[in-house]
Amino acid sequence: MKLAVAGMGYVGLVAGVCFAHMGHDVTCVDLDEKKIAMLEQGKCPIYERDLEELMQQNYELGRLHYTTNYQAAYEYADAIFIGVGTPVQPDGSANLTYIAKVARQIAESVKQDCLIVVKSTVPVGTNDKVEQFIKDFLVHDVKVEVASNPEFLAQGSAVHDTLKAARVIIGTESQEARDKLYEIYEPFHLPIVAVSRRSAEMIKYASNDFLALKISYMNEIANLCELVGANIQDVARGMSYDRRIGESFLNAGIGYGGSCFPKDTKALKYLAKQNGYQLKTVEAAVDVNKSQKILLFKKACKRLITFSDLKVAILGLTFKPGTDDLREAPSIDNIKLLLERGAKIHAYDPVGEENMKKLFPSITYESTPAKALEKSHLCFIFTEWKEIRMIEPAKYKELMRTPLVYDGRNIYDTKSMKEAGVEYYSVGRL
Ligand code: UDX
Repeated sequence: MKLAVAGMGYVGLVAGVCFAHMGHDVTCVDLDEKKIAMLEQGKCPIYERDLEELMQQNYELGRLHYTTNYQAAYEYADAIFIGVGTPVQPDGSANLTYIAKVARQIAESVKQDCLIVVKSTVPVGTNDKVEQFIKDFLVHDVKVEVASNPEFLAQGSAVHDTLKAARVIIGTESQEARDKLYEIYEPFHLPIVAVSRRSAEMIKYASNDFLALKISYMNEIANLCELVGANIQDVARGMSYDRRIGESFLNAGIGYGGSCFPKDTKALKYLAKQNGYQLKTVEAAVDVNKSQKILLFKKACKRLITFSDLKVAILGLTFKPGTDDLREAPSIDNIKLLLERGAKIHAYDPVGEENMKKLFPSITYESTPAKALEKSHLCFIFTEWKEIRMIEPAKYKELMRTPLVYDGRNIYDTKSMKEAGVEYYSVGRL
């Protein structure tokens, strides 16, 4: 099938490449000429396992095209997928400017009947409006319909999450649109859940917010574990065998970050409020996450009389391993607080350094964990990168001036750290 994908961010690029990989003829559209030029050279603008290889393969096979010329891409497409961003605004509402812009371009370009599929996360009911908006601006006498097909990929495993998705959600208002989406997804051989457009929109928020809630719940249980002398990892292990609970997303730590959970929890809270309802559980998850992010900093404040002129090693900057994304990363809040108190920060992250430099140009970035740790007075671990997990407990004792470690990802066994002579604090364990 002839497909077009609008917006070469995480969602759009991965979708475009995976559709091409499944045999469709895909034209990827972005207005950023530099980005399109980079993609045409086979270079992937995001740090994502397997993506560059698949881009190159499918480009060579002639199934994948990149362009800034949206008219040409949209005019005779069988379906157009929209994957542009919907950033959260200060009041919690979603910014739909980018969606509206693409919708307008589509309306002015399509010359045959076309299905428009929104992959971007949008507040429930938005796609009804997108459809009306496109119909209002149509230039040619064609039939268009808007469907919802939310994206569930996680950064760092985006290709796998798309090709081997647990499910594909399609939200449509007609049999015709549903059939077309079944046909597009047929080569993936994945379970398809077909629902109404509004239910599909809600499934995305409900899924993400449930996971955020699960993490905040475990973080609260972890905090309580510390107070009563239990170990959160043992507790999580014990819980995980219950299939109703499941084994994933039970890791306590310094809170969730990234481009989805923080945004989607705020957006659902806002949507509820707009509809006269208070979503107390999601609000609680947001509040818990806010305080969880600076939990270790607060612990360190209790232990030290000052941070002034202390060399602080920060291991891990990104919101999770496997990505260079720093959006809502707990490291940011902590670095701000430490800098305000006069700490000298030496940070290490295998891929996040370049992005972090844009936010904090004046802190010292080290090329290895050892350099960050050398002669430091304390250390914070914020991301469980392999390079960080591999550091032996004895190294902290050997390299640091005072081996004081605050681990926000519960990487180490508390006993091993104690035996190595490290004063070690983590989350939900004594
Ligand atoms: C998430 C969803 O998983 C994905 O389905 C959705 O489409 C987008 O949002 P992502 O943000 O890429 O994906 O990362 P994810 O692996 O879900 O982790 C999100 C945050 O939760 C990270 O900061 C991670 O460290 C934290 N987390 C995750 C925990 O603190 N504990 C856990 O047990 C799992």
